Amino acid sequence: MSGYIASPINFWKWLNSLLRFGVVMLIAAGTTTSSAMGVDYGKDTAQKIVAEDCGACHGIHGNSVAPNYPKLAAQIPHYIRGQLHDFASGARTSPIMSGMAKALSDAQIRELAQYFSQQTNKNTAHPDTSLVAQGKKIFHGGVSATNVPACAACHGPAAIGLPPLYPRLAGQNPPYVESQLLAFRSKQRSNDPRAMMRDIAGKLTAQEIKAVAAYLGSLP
Ligand code: HEC
Ligand code: HEC
Repeated sequence: MSGYIASPINFWKWLNSLLRFGVVMLIAAGTTTSSAMGVDYGKDTAQKIVAEDCGACHGIHGNSVAPNYPKLAAQIPHYIRGQLHDFASGARTSPIMSGMAKALSDAQIRELAQYFSQQTNKNTAHPDTSLVAQGKKIFHGGVSATNVPACAACHGPAAIGLPPLYPRLAGQNPPYVESQLLAFRSKQRSNDPRAMMRDIAGKLTAQEIKAVAAYLGSLP
């Protein structure tokens, strides 16, 4: 070591390698921290991220594997991006989504939103036809007695959403729709612009929520 420091050229070589070692250690420390948190997407493509993570719950083509996971197929891309940014910032709380959303780059979020929005949503017929009929009435006409506006006014007459702000609801899993309307109603979910959904869900009864969710799930 003293030999290195004795000659100025060797000293610079030694300092250089020391600095490089330091940088390597910093990168290694960074990688360990994010892999300790379980997620590190690096520069992965959307395709790889869907295959290795998202697809396990949301389905490879965005038609989720369980009714409490939202379908992402054919969803408005602007809405998907907004939700991922909200999960990352904590504006929408989800113990499941926040870590993954934080690990995604803006470019990956754009690519994922584009991918899921281009998939076909597969709806499932609901067995309770009278519940579906009640939900249809609420969706298209609102509930005048309690000042609930027609959902169709914002989400579109076919519930396929209205870009950029209003998400698609057609074919969405009824248990997921119910959970979100209850979350807006209790204000546990509060990332809706101008409190639009907190206001509307606040006027719906639990039974009306069930009905409108059943109708939406049955739509193609
Ligand atoms: C372990 C299951 C799981 C995995 C894996 C997962 N999600 Fe989710 N995702 C959920 C759940 C559950 C919700 C609903 C929010 C909540 O209740 O926590 C959700 C919500 C979302 C939403 C909001 C949908 C809406 O209609 O508002 C988006 C967008 C989303 N996830 C994208 C992704 C992407 C992209 C990936 C892959 C990086 C991913 N998810 C991986 C379970 C998962
Ligand atoms: C004034 C416009 C407006 C009306 C009317 C409206 N919504 Fe919404 N809704 C929104 C907006 C905006 C969002 C997106 C919130 C966000 O960006 O987080 C939303 C989101 C939702 C979501 C969450 C979707 C998801 O994938 O998580 C559900 C469920 C929903 N609305 C159901 C309804 C129902 C049912 C009605 C009728 C009773 C209704 N909405 C009426 C504006 C509206």
